[in-house]
Amino acid sequence: MIYFDNSATTYVNEEVMQTIIEVTKSINANPSSIHELGNRAASLMHQSRMQIASLLNVTPEEIYFTSGGTEGDNWAVKGTAIEKKAYGNHIITTTIEHPAVNESIRQLEQFGFDVTYLPVDKNGVISIDDLKKAIRKDTILVSVMAVNNEVGSIQPINEVGEVLKEYPSIHFHVDAVQAIGKVPFLLGSNSRIDIAVFSSHKFHGPKGTGFIYLKKGRKIAPLLNGGGQENRMRSGTENVAGIAATGKALRLVLTDAISKQEKQKNIRDYLISELSGYKKVVIFSTEAGAPHILCFALKGIRGEVLLHAFESESIYISTTSACSSKNKRNSTTLSAMHVPDSIAVDAVRVSLSDTNTMQEAKQFLSIFKILYKKFQSIHA
Ligand SMILES: Cc1ncc(COP(=O)(O)O)c(C=O)c1O
Repeated sequence: MIYFDNSATTYVNEEVMQTIIEVTKSINANPSSIHELGNRAASLMHQSRMQIASLLNVTPEEIYFTSGGTEGDNWAVKGTAIEKKAYGNHIITTTIEHPAVNESIRQLEQFGFDVTYLPVDKNGVISIDDLKKAIRKDTILVSVMAVNNEVGSIQPINEVGEVLKEYPSIHFHVDAVQAIGKVPFLLGSNSRIDIAVFSSHKFHGPKGTGFIYLKKGRKIAPLLNGGGQENRMRSGTENVAGIAATGKALRLVLTDAISKQEKQKNIRDYLISELSGYKKVVIFSTEAGAPHILCFALKGIRGEVLLHAFESESIYISTTSACSSKNKRNSTTLSAMHVPDSIAVDAVRVSLSDTNTMQEAKQFLSIFKILYKKFQSIHA
């Protein structure tokens, strides 16, 4: 079996799994309970918060646990809108955000917010000039993802931050779900990022857990009201085992991150160079993109057909993004990159993790060679 669908989700690391089992078995109390067992749960959560903060070079008070990327993005966007409504009505985002951001912003449009969608070039990257032109007096939020989940394009987050240094009242939100462990991603006092969103299952942690970074001094309104957990910012009994597992998964993914990224990049570049030798293959990802994502199309063969053909050989890939694939929506990123729909429907995504090997890439390519011939003979 070859698993090449790591942008949809990753397997849970064995050590991380042990943490989930041990914590679930031995620390079953509610961290809000004031007895000894509750204290143990709260203290474990505190340790994880400190661990995550130190790995990201921020303070523990700036980390808030969530149920994952979708919640984090909804919170960043709507929490900013509610908090800053009195100061302005304008939001800037891109045409290639994940639906967790895009749909949240579309909902705000229904409530009267005005939105500028920054276009991308043919490589799926926004332009800083467009951003500069879009900023207005009433802009309250700029939301730009770090790494696109469909084609892997890396957005110029540091440059956006530089521009926003001149507009200190604007919240800068970055969806970092596909970036962490894959590309250099800096938070902390020199970074202009106010809110960054993370999801554990994208870095070998469990599903349904994640966290946001919210810069000290920045305010967003809570979306989940209730018992006042997470410093009254995000109510709901915490997933203690998931939180402990998240800390461990983050530590593991960031250990030797550079060499892991290089390994993935070598595999991805090899796949690009081999696939580009086929006349009917169109490649949408570039070598400048994140090392783990390769989006391409075999012209004339729908993405889901190619996906299932690989599946019958026990190779798992996806049609662009996992959420859109079941909804049968065309890729928003490819359409923003002006890829015609007739080609976008043929797109598939290969996404790697640090455990994939060159051997697997070679096996993938040898199956591709067979499938290519087969599809050509059918269409001849
Ligand atoms: C860029 C990006 N943002 C947000 C999400 C949503 O994360 P989650 O699955 O944890 O809700 C994903 C998941 O695919 C993603 O790729």
